[in-house]
Amino acid sequence: MSEENKNCRHVAIIMDGNGRWAKAQGKPRTAGHLAGADNVRTIAIAASNLGVEYLTLYAFSTENWKRSADEVNYIMKLPSFFFGKYMKEFIDRGFRMHMLGELDRLPAETRKVLDDAVEQSKQNTGLNLSIAINYGSQREILLAAKHYAEDVAEGKASLDLSEEQFESYLMTAGMPNVDLLIRTSGELRISNYLLWQIAYAELEFVPEAWPEFTPEVLARCIDQFNNRDRRFGGIKDE
Ligand code: IPE
Ligand code: IPE
Ligand code: MG
Repeated sequence: MSEENKNCRHVAIIMDGNGRWAKAQGKPRTAGHLAGADNVRTIAIAASNLGVEYLTLYAFSTENWKRSADEVNYIMKLPSFFFGKYMKEFIDRGFRMHMLGELDRLPAETRKVLDDAVEQSKQNTGLNLSIAINYGSQREILLAAKHYAEDVAEGKASLDLSEEQFESYLMTAGMPNVDLLIRTSGELRISNYLLWQIAYAELEFVPEAWPEFTPEVLARCIDQFNNRDRRFGGIKDE
């Protein structure tokens, strides 16, 4: 890891703007999702080269089911295309895949492709690449609370719960909290993403749509992160 980037371990990105990017080029929204999927590879490689240890990408939210069946069906087929094209390379690069979200609600074929990607890369020790799919942070926290309550009822957990122990019930269990959250395409909102994990994240909102978010823009965001003064509620030494 580069010395300058020793503090930016976990980058999360809300990959927004695929539809508008496609429309601006006179193409259907699905063309934006296809270009967006290809850009996941480009940015994962760039993040790994920049010393990022965890890259967590928002691909499909629990709210995105509201979209047309055509668009949802297209997005659900993308993992097969994406991992078919890039999985071998990811293995060679040492990437370890993780999924965040309720995968059991996805079409069976989509789920299989995602499970296989996790399984095939589980020995890898390079970039931890997490894809949030059918993910919603409120749902994640609710499920964690339910799971914890069950453990208490079964005598497996005590009522004395720390923040760290609660984190072990989240879908991001075992990962450090987010250092830098980036949202593309100019929207200034969080859209139900990693609400617990971004408690002290630095935020960057960039105008580029996801398909045009380049390694240079990522490097700029990380530079800005490294120039910020993270106080975590304390006071900077004079
Ligand atoms: C992000 O791009 C991808 C998903 C949410 C699945 P959008 O599809 O939201 O693109 P815009 O925001 O409509 O341009
Ligand atoms: C957030 O983008 C979800 C993903 C990028 C997967 P949306 O486009 O769904 O968010 P809103 O609707 O603008 O808040
Ligand atoms: Mg959007």
